[in-house]
Amino acid sequence: MFSESFPTVSVRGVEIPSIGYGTMLFPEPEKAVSLISQAIESGYRHIDTARKYGSEKWVGEAIRNTSIAREEIWVTTKVTEENAKADDFARSVDKSLKTMQLNYVDLLLIHWPQPKVPLSETIGALIKAKQEGLAKNIGISNFTVELIHKAVQLSSEQLFTNQIEYHPFINQDKVLQTCRKFGISVTCHVPLARGEVLKSPQIKEIAKFHKKSPAQVTLKWLIQQKDIIVVPRGLSRGEIIENINLSDFSLSDEQMNMISKLRNRNLRLVDPEVRRPVWDLP
Ligand SMILES: NC(=O)c1ccc[n+]([C@@H]2O[C@H](COP(=O)([O-])OP(=O)(O)OC[C@H]3O[C@@H](n4cnc5c(N)ncnc54)[C@H](OP(=O)(O)O)[C@@H]3O)[C@@H](O)[C@H]2O)c1
Repeated sequence: MFSESFPTVSVRGVEIPSIGYGTMLFPEPEKAVSLISQAIESGYRHIDTARKYGSEKWVGEAIRNTSIAREEIWVTTKVTEENAKADDFARSVDKSLKTMQLNYVDLLLIHWPQPKVPLSETIGALIKAKQEGLAKNIGISNFTVELIHKAVQLSSEQLFTNQIEYHPFINQDKVLQTCRKFGISVTCHVPLARGEVLKSPQIKEIAKFHKKSPAQVTLKWLIQQKDIIVVPRGLSRGEIIENINLSDFSLSDEQMNMISKLRNRNLRLVDPEVRRPVWDLP
């Protein structure tokens, strides 16, 4: 289904492009549609949005503007923790689809865990959306080891991904191992640590060696790991193109290990007090 020149991750035979375009927070909203369109033109076939981001309308517009067939573009959206109750959840999915003017999304995620609503109710609503054909695949986001176990136990359907913060400055081994155990892929949000990792002298050195940019090396380090997907946001044509062109080089084991050692910095950028769960300690 997707172009052979771009890598994919397969979960029980369903393929998702390993590199998606993130659409959270456009500092210049008037440029959003044009940037998403540039991403599609540059070869991205995976767009990451959420009800919370306010970007669904721009995603829908960019998809309508392109000649690429809808089935060839993977769209992920999310339901916020404020809509964890079954009725609210269903309304949120309905709004997402109406806003994007789509009949279905490829992947629907519970954006954050909601301790005030039984997880069984939210998982039930997630499964219902899949059974009604509104989402082809379902998953979770920002779920810890304990919560992943609970979600798997409660779900009669395969969970496709857990979207978590993962980049070279954070140790996510426990969550990664748990996801692998259950055949759940991992999608990395803030894969570039919002630019922080690009300042690393080690990453810069490896980038110089490969004649690539620090962003390319960072994204390559992520997707070279098993069943890892990334959704970087680029705010210029140059960044957008750079972030998807990762096929013509690979990192040696030594270079992979060198970058893995940077995790001790333990930088967690997405940590909102109002909705964070008790994170797993490294
Ligand atoms: N599930 C969740 O809870 C959750 C949470 C957060 C994010 N997300 C998803 O993850 C996506 C990515 O996160 P993010 O946008 O916050 O962070 P990010 O992708 O780690 O960083 C994006 C920033 O990095 C810089 N950048 C990107 N490509 C570059 C390149 N090639 N060279 C140099 N700098 C580059 C740009 O900064 P400048 O503007 O300075 O150029 C860009 O704004 C979001 O858009 C969203 O879809 C999900």
